[in-house]
Amino acid sequence: MIVLIGFMGAGKTTVGRGLAARLEVPFLDSDEVLEAREGRSIAEVFATDGEATFRRLEREMIASLLDGPETVLAVGGGAVEDAATRSLLRNHTVVHLEASLDDVAARIGDDESRPVLAMPGIAERYRGRLPLYADVADVVVPTANRRPEEVVADVLAALDRIR
Ligand code: S3P
Repeated sequence: MIVLIGFMGAGKTTVGRGLAARLEVPFLDSDEVLEAREGRSIAEVFATDGEATFRRLEREMIASLLDGPETVLAVGGGAVEDAATRSLLRNHTVVHLEASLDDVAARIGDDESRPVLAMPGIAERYRGRLPLYADVADVVVPTANRRPEEVVADVLAALDRIR
């Protein structure tokens, strides 16, 4: 299983789709699967049940997807905040798509489907997650100022080096 991690707006979905096409495996996004299974949006889960419940649902979802057939799996940018999720990820090939806070902020604007953006302390969250991404990543690929196809090629080259 190849798992893409990184902050919101780092390019996990776009790069994940391209990577999955090149590797000829399905692409899955843990957020999309969670929304489909819950029958409600992530914004609704945050608003009704709060972030702690979202992190638990996210962990359960990631655990079940990691148990399934081989895919390229993009996980939500905050999944690494949960220690048990980090442990699950350690058993797989994890790619950190890295972008600066300025880059991701420019890409995502004020997207209302991402409740964490509306919470205070986004810069602290960004900084707090960097060591967590580093903790679980097998490879780190920068995405700033690069086209998705270039990032996909970089990821494939990096995977070749470690495999
Ligand atoms: C979150 C990122 C989102 C989604 C949720 C929380 C976060 O995923 O899981 O809104 O805490 O950074 P993306 O990184 O795919 O936007």
